[in-house]
Amino acid sequence: MFTLRIAKVVRHSEKIATIYFNKKISSYPGQFVMLNLFGYEEIPLSLSSPNSVTVKAVGETTRALLDGNFRYIGIRGAFGRPFTISDRALLIAGGIGIAPLKYLYDFLKSRGYEAELVYGAKSVGELIWIEEFENAKFATEDGSFGVKGTVLDLLRDRNYDYYSRIYCCGKEEMMRKVYRLLKAKNCLNKAEFSLERYMRCGIGVCGSCVLKNGLRVCKDGPVFKAENLEGIL
Ligand SMILES: Cc1cc2nc3c(=O)[nH]c(=O)nc-3n(C[C@H](O)[C@H](O)[C@H](O)COP(=O)(O)OP(=O)(O)OC[C@H]3O[C@@H](n4cnc5c(N)ncnc54)[C@H](O)[C@@H]3O)c2cc1C
Ligand code: FES
Repeated sequence: MFTLRIAKVVRHSEKIATIYFNKKISSYPGQFVMLNLFGYEEIPLSLSSPNSVTVKAVGETTRALLDGNFRYIGIRGAFGRPFTISDRALLIAGGIGIAPLKYLYDFLKSRGYEAELVYGAKSVGELIWIEEFENAKFATEDGSFGVKGTVLDLLRDRNYDYYSRIYCCGKEEMMRKVYRLLKAKNCLNKAEFSLERYMRCGIGVCGSCVLKNGLRVCKDGPVFKAENLEGIL
C-alpha cells in the first residue's frame, strides 16, 4: 500500500464528487484501486483518470470521502482487467458507472480514436461532466435532460456494425437489459461489461467476489467480455 495526498475534491452534486490525488497511478481504463481511509473499511473504486476516483456516497466510507476532511489516503493497486482498446467505440454508462468510462473516453480521444457515449441517470443532477463529452447522448428517467427514459431508449435504433467495441458500466439491472439488447442485435461478441461485487483482498485470493461461473471480479474482471457473462447478466 502507498499513501497519496488528496490534491483536490470536485463536487458534482450533493452525493457525487471526484477526488484527485497528487500523483498519477500506473493504470489502464477499467482498472480499480482499493482505497483506505484511516478508520474506515477499505473499498474498491474504479479510476476515473490516472489520478482520480469519482465517488457516489452510499455508506460510511464513501460519505466520509465526500466530506473532504481527509488529506491523505492509502491506495493498493491499480488492479484488475482493463477495457480492451478499440478505434470505434460505443460507451454505455448508467449513473456512477460513468467513472471508469470517463477514463476510457479520455484515453481513446487522446489517441485519436472515435468514442461515442450514451449516458443515462435518474435526473440531471446525477449526470456529471455533461459538457466534457463531444459525442454524447443523454437520457434521464424524469426527462430533466436529454431523452426522457433510459439508455435503452437511445440504443434500440443503431447501426451496431459500425462499432469495433461496445463498453457498458452501470447498475446490474441496467447492464442486464443492455446485454439482452446487444444479444438480440447479434453484437455481444464485441461487448465488455464492468461488474461490481463485494471485495476484500482485491487480488484474487479471498474468494469474496467470485461469480457463479467461478470467475473472480477482482482478478478476472472487473471488465469482462460478454461471452464470459452467460447466466451472470
Ligand atoms: C470494481 C469496483 C469498482 C467500483 N467503482 C466505483 C466507483 O468508481 N465509484 C463509486 O462510487 N463506487 C464504486 N464502486 C462501489 C463502491 O465500492 C461502494 O459504493 C462502496 O464500497 C460502498 O462503501 P461504503 O462503506 O460507503 O458503503 P457500505 O457501508 O458498504 O454500504 C452502505 C449501503 O450502500 C449499499 N451499497 C454498497 N455498495 C453499493 C453500490 N455499489 N451501489 C449501491 N448501493 C451500494 C450497501 O448495500 C449498503 O446498504 C465500485 C465497486 C467495485 C467492486
Ligand atoms: S476480492 Fe478477494 S478474491 Fe476477489
